[in-house]
Amino acid sequence: IKRIGLLCSGGDSPGMNCAIRSVVRSAINANLEVYGIQRGFSGLLEGNIKELDVSSVGNIIQHGGTILQTSRCPEFHEAETRKEAAHILKRKKIDALIVIGGNGSFNGAYALHTEHGIPMVGIPGTIDNDISGTDYSIGFDTAVQTAIDAVDKIRDTASSHERTFIVEVMGRKSAAIALHVGVCTGAENVVLPSENVNVEEISNDIKRGIKRGKNSSIIIVAEGEKEGLSHRIQEQLKADFELDSHVCILGHIQRGGNPSGQDRFIASGMGYLAIEELLKGNNSFVTAYRNGHVVAAPFDECLEKKSEYLPQYINLVKTLSI
Ligand code: F6P
Repeated sequence: IKRIGLLCSGGDSPGMNCAIRSVVRSAINANLEVYGIQRGFSGLLEGNIKELDVSSVGNIIQHGGTILQTSRCPEFHEAETRKEAAHILKRKKIDALIVIGGNGSFNGAYALHTEHGIPMVGIPGTIDNDISGTDYSIGFDTAVQTAIDAVDKIRDTASSHERTFIVEVMGRKSAAIALHVGVCTGAENVVLPSENVNVEEISNDIKRGIKRGKNSSIIIVAEGEKEGLSHRIQEQLKADFELDSHVCILGHIQRGGNPSGQDRFIASGMGYLAIEELLKGNNSFVTAYRNGHVVAAPFDECLEKKSEYLPQYINLVKTLSI
């Protein structure tokens, strides 16, 4: 292996730049060349590729977003598109590809590997922390902290005005952000994705709190796949239980910002391991985080969406906010 391609794919996450810096510097240190592919798989198909040197990744460790930019590329589900991508990589003499992204991106990358034999590395990067086979994905800690900061601020004004807030956090089908934010902000309730929402129970929790002298309530809602859940809960609270509430959707604020220490540390370790393992001849793996360490895990263990957040976290939220 002499020349490595590097791209980000899917939603960006804070810490992707740390992983890029680590890949580039670890590779150059081992006398490899790194070619940065701009705008993910879409950029690859456009041939948007240029060499990265040591200083091209200087002063980026602290910045959110990704200097390589990213995209969602639905065409990559097509075998024909992947064939074209493989041709482009071969033409550019790229011998291995490193993809920083989530579960959808990993599926595309792994298909490219199995169909065309291109050595492939996945570095987990998504705020949702929902990739199977890894305990952690880059960006989750920062996103949770961003949401916690926002909810703390909402709690200030909610208490001053004796209000109930429904705060919607990101995570699509994953409940990870919602549960962490719920526990860490003392939320009164957390609504999980695809759960049948029991608005009566939410209303009972709020009313019980008011009775014992609470002057605010926060309900954290995981966004789920269908838009508008928070507003539907708000309407039902009003119509059926005569409770007024405000909705605050945190949205993309959770995807930006300076990466936390944890995200910088883990991303740096993942980038380094990616190069170390490639040099050992491992040609298909994910830099997974397991039991507190970054390890090379077989790609096919990291292709599913994780759904291991169990009801005990809901019980934790509810027990601590009585
Ligand atoms: O996967 C990361 C994520 O931020 C999800 O939490 C969210 O549902 C989705 O991306 C939003 O995607 P987009 O930025 O493309 O609207």
